[in-house]
Amino acid sequence: MPEAYLMKPVKSIEELREMAWAFRASRVLMLAHRLDIFTLLSRGGLSAGEIAHRQGSDRDMTERLLIACTALGLLEKKGDVYVNSELATTYLVRGGRLYQGGWIDHADLDLWPYWGSELDRELGGYRTEDEGWTRRFIKAMHSLAIGGEAEGLAEALDLRGRRLLYDIGGGPGTFSIYLCRANRDLRAVVFDLPEVVAITREVIREYGMEGQVSTREGTWDTDDFGEEGDVALLSNVLHGPGSKAEMKLEKAYRSLKPGGLLIVRDFMLDDDKTGPVAPALFNLMLGAYTKAEMKALIESAGFTGVREIETASKSHTVIAADRSQDR
Ligand SMILES: C[S@@+](CC[C@H](N)C(=O)[O-])C[C@H]1O[C@@H](n2cnc3c(N)ncnc32)[C@H](O)[C@@H]1O
Repeated sequence: MPEAYLMKPVKSIEELREMAWAFRASRVLMLAHRLDIFTLLSRGGLSAGEIAHRQGSDRDMTERLLIACTALGLLEKKGDVYVNSELATTYLVRGGRLYQGGWIDHADLDLWPYWGSELDRELGGYRTEDEGWTRRFIKAMHSLAIGGEAEGLAEALDLRGRRLLYDIGGGPGTFSIYLCRANRDLRAVVFDLPEVVAITREVIREYGMEGQVSTREGTWDTDDFGEEGDVALLSNVLHGPGSKAEMKLEKAYRSLKPGGLLIVRDFMLDDDKTGPVAPALFNLMLGAYTKAEMKALIESAGFTGVREIETASKSHTVIAADRSQDR
């Protein structure tokens, strides 16, 4: 028998991260099973719209679940039509000889509440002081960035000759810190909401980067991002429709001087919407554009030379583009 997935000690930061996020894949399996998608598809492939119609579920959210199932190997996509994978056909169709739905239902309906909230009561509840959502969220962004993402971006980008970077919705400012550490002539301004910028300043101080990284309080809804910038970084702020991507990209364009560089870093789906896993799971939460959709949005904002930058990231795509030399 092959060694069971995840039933082995973790040995790397990637495995540690996967362990921490594993509940999302569990929920995809449980929800798709609870919605009876595998049994429905055992009678023939269907599109997202047809499945949503038959299940009486929301079309967009159903498609997001189907994309996640596809990325995780439970379904396959042929054109617009979803079909069961071989594994799903064997184990996830009700009435099948080897049907595994018994323990999936038990895990979903009986065990999930225990692992989700009852277990920590059994263990005496939370011991750490609750710092509140904003600080927790910004610390999460920081730890993800220092786990290799910020260093990887700094290695992948050639920012020689660039002096001023606007880090839009920069959160903890970690990407600015790493980019400025790698480019000593660069200055970065982290733009974010006032309550976040208070935390950003702590991070900048902790890294001793006050000389190169500063902050600016504001909101992208009403404020401009600046002017005469060399680089505009939009990292994790263009999460699919609903993220006001058009407005942010237009403001980023205006913030740059001619020849300025746009860097977009985000979860992006492959153009056929079959993966990868990380964007497919993120899409189920906040939405994710495909790479082609993102490139089209960037071009619509006026940028040229839209290109993908290779990085070591397994979760994020980085796209660069230029503001042309003409005014
Ligand atoms: C997902 S985080 C990304 C943080 C950082 N760029 C990164 O990649 O680690 C999104 C950031 O956008 C900021 N944000 C949300 N609404 C905003 C607004 N109206 N104006 C400016 N920033 C905002 C959040 O505070 C948060 O720091």
